[in-house]
Amino acid sequence: MKRVAVLTSGGDAPGMNAAIRAVTRAALAKDWEVFGVRNGYAGLLADALDPLAARDVGGIIQRGGTVLGSARCREFAEPAGRAKALAHLAARNVDALVVIGGNGSQSGSASLAREGFTVVGVPSTIDNDLYGTDVSIGADTAINVTLEAIDRLRTTASSHHRAFVVETMGRNCGYIALMAGIGGGAEVIAIPESEVEASEVAERLRAAYRRGKTHALVVVAEGAKHGVHDLLTLYGEQRASIGFDLRLTRLGHVVRGGVPSAADRLLATRLGAAAVDSLAAGRHGVLVGMQRGEINVTSLSEITGRMRPADTALVELARVLAK
Ligand code: F6P
Repeated sequence: MKRVAVLTSGGDAPGMNAAIRAVTRAALAKDWEVFGVRNGYAGLLADALDPLAARDVGGIIQRGGTVLGSARCREFAEPAGRAKALAHLAARNVDALVVIGGNGSQSGSASLAREGFTVVGVPSTIDNDLYGTDVSIGADTAINVTLEAIDRLRTTASSHHRAFVVETMGRNCGYIALMAGIGGGAEVIAIPESEVEASEVAERLRAAYRRGKTHALVVVAEGAKHGVHDLLTLYGEQRASIGFDLRLTRLGHVVRGGVPSAADRLLATRLGAAAVDSLAAGRHGVLVGMQRGEINVTSLSEITGRMRPADTALVELARVLAK
């Protein structure tokens, strides 16, 4: 009999609950005991673990956020913090941990694995920047939320012959901006992996106005260095020659909120169950991911410090189609 604990860590992502449910029920189906850790790694340090039964994870598959709570926990990055967490797990005879989270969280899992604990990571971050998986839980919903905002802004932009800058989330990675920008037919997409200078954005808007477009949409990832500030300053100086009036909408944490999409529920369900299968097969110290539509595993040591690269062909495609 195994005793497995599950936690959600870092920025919450829609679909985390579906993953918690899948881990719990897949583990119970193997006659294992399951514990839910409250508030991510902080809960391991505080010994805040509760047993989870099948009914405890009922009615959560469609809920956003995480019923377990989440946190960013600096103490866990230190060896002393992890030693405290491991002591709590040992005292409860918990012999395996499933960590549902993004880059920072999986660095924590990699450290635990290096220190000899049995751990499996499940990729969950709206940023979709984790190496070792094509897609992480939450990214699809975040794209859809951003896209809905873009679609709504387009109608008002068009009515007033305005340009809109829409800033979406994505700290070091422009995946959400790129995908939603393409889906929303944006004139310009600015992401950290493919920066666009403010002067070039202004030039493209000017050109769009001269071509007779009734509106223009600029989608910017929050992590894009030349971001919104540079653009607004320059726009103030060149407004008359650009043609469009400009408005800014910052989506912020709205992008992370609300119910998970069908794709995220399915992904989370498959990955959560696969994490348990991986533990049962003795494959641990790995991230369970999805590559080319198939479940795969990648060593946690391999993903640490790396980032999923942006699809530069898509960046170019977006530029060509914006004409
Ligand atoms: O990592 C996911 C993410 O939503 C990023 O896109 C964003 O930059 C960050 O988290 C925000 O962090 P916090 O919720 O701690 O403000």
